[in-house]
Amino acid sequence: MSTVKTILSSIATRRTIYSLKPELPANVTLEQIKDITQAILKDTPSAFNSQPNKVIILTGEAHKQVWNQVVEAIPTEDGKKRPQSAADEAYGTILFIVDDAVTKGLQEGFPAWAAAFPDFAVTSNGAVQISTWTALSQLPGFGAHLQHYNFLKGFLGDKIGENETIQAQLVFGTKAADAGEKTYKDNEIEVISTL
Ligand SMILES: Cc1cc2nc3c(=O)[nH]c(=O)nc-3n(C[C@H](O)[C@H](O)[C@H](O)COP(=O)(O)O)c2cc1C
Repeated sequence: MSTVKTILSSIATRRTIYSLKPELPANVTLEQIKDITQAILKDTPSAFNSQPNKVIILTGEAHKQVWNQVVEAIPTEDGKKRPQSAADEAYGTILFIVDDAVTKGLQEGFPAWAAAFPDFAVTSNGAVQISTWTALSQLPGFGAHLQHYNFLKGFLGDKIGENETIQAQLVFGTKAADAGEKTYKDNEIEVISTL
């Protein structure tokens, strides 16, 4: 398969997998997951090459403890379901973080662009999130879903800095069932060559 075909196939086969088992797939190690994520963190572009992104991987007791606290913080039974499944049915969580001090530094250094830098940081962080999700989804048996319980920063104590904002969580484990059906809207690209 050509490289482009491989990339397109990876993008198409990454899916939201809610049905997980709290273990790593056979033949997949935590080290591998860390190394893949590390490579993506390194190579993802950012505004002015500012590299505002950071990643933490939670496993074991840390993963369980954080998600159980999310469950406790949510008042409704329905609202508790997703975080409870993360606590009980997933192996780990990849936290995608932006260092807001980097954004502040850029705003001071380039005042003309100040208003744009927060969005630039989140854009770059989103690229890390989706590239990581896409790459890890190619590991046989791997499953994950993306969540936004960003207030869980409060349950991490001094493991996360004051200037750091959690943008998303990729909850992962062994895929226990395939993704649901997905519909696609008609969204043909328009090519404009004269106005
Ligand atoms: C920016 C973004 C935010 C998302 N937020 C959530 C979320 O908070 N909870 C959730 O269960 N899924 C979330 N998703 C997953 C989407 O619902 C999912 O990607 C979409 O329905 C398409 O399905 P697929 O991932 O299987 O292709 C998010 C996805 C993206 C890209």
